[in-house]
Amino acid sequence: MVKSNKAYFGRTEKLGFNPLSDEDIKLNYYENFYDPNLNIYTKHSKIPPGKRSSTRLLDESDDGNAFRFTVTRLDTKTKIGVCSLQDVDFLNRSGHIARFLWDKNISGMGLGTEVLRFLTGFAFDKINLNKVIVRNVSTNIAAEKSCLKAGFTLEGKLRQEFYANGKYLDVNYFGMLREQFYSKGLTTDKND
Ligand SMILES: CC(C)(COP(=O)(O)OP(=O)(O)OC[C@H]1O[C@@H](n2cnc3c(N)ncnc32)[C@H](O)[C@@H]1OP(=O)(O)O)[C@@H](O)C(=O)NCCC(=O)NCCS
Repeated sequence: MVKSNKAYFGRTEKLGFNPLSDEDIKLNYYENFYDPNLNIYTKHSKIPPGKRSSTRLLDESDDGNAFRFTVTRLDTKTKIGVCSLQDVDFLNRSGHIARFLWDKNISGMGLGTEVLRFLTGFAFDKINLNKVIVRNVSTNIAAEKSCLKAGFTLEGKLRQEFYANGKYLDVNYFGMLREQFYSKGLTTDKND
């Protein structure tokens, strides 16, 4: 695994966040998406990322449509995954969150929830969005629970939206509003 000692663009209690970089792509970070146990509920089980598609993600970030971060554990200084605020819509001031934590030793640490807290804080405090959305396949229990723990509201169910292992699965649509975030005092960014 990749070690990092750099300062962080953003931090929560246990995690540091830095922009996804050329260096990550040179180090083939995308191969972490190839684990079939982890990618089952993401598009990566069908469209595995490679060097070229990952480089395109960097271009998209430069255009301001997406903000992509690596996730580093502060205790071990190990990169354990990536996350993003993507499909950012500056007319309606909304964006979608995606997360992928590939370290198998993090179970029970609440890190997926910390990732959500960082990205919602970034969305509201830093780039002035009004709404953040997370879409989870309904059988992805860890993703569902972490959304609820981070204070998201289940807004609806998209029926048979995602195909995996021979079945069409429902997708749950979670949202967090700016007013909800501030009324609950949810920000955890340690850089502030
Ligand atoms: C989704 C993901 C980010 C969640 O991260 P995480 O670190 O497990 O999340 P948290 O620990 O904050 O919360 C998960 C909760 O679900 C619980 N959980 C996990 N698997 C469970 C299961 N099979 N049954 C019941 N509860 C389960 C955990 O115990 C925890 O709850 P707790 O804090 O009350 O104990 C991570 O699993 C991941 O990256 N998965 C692969 C990619 C993916 O599916 N991304 C989401 C779609 S974009």
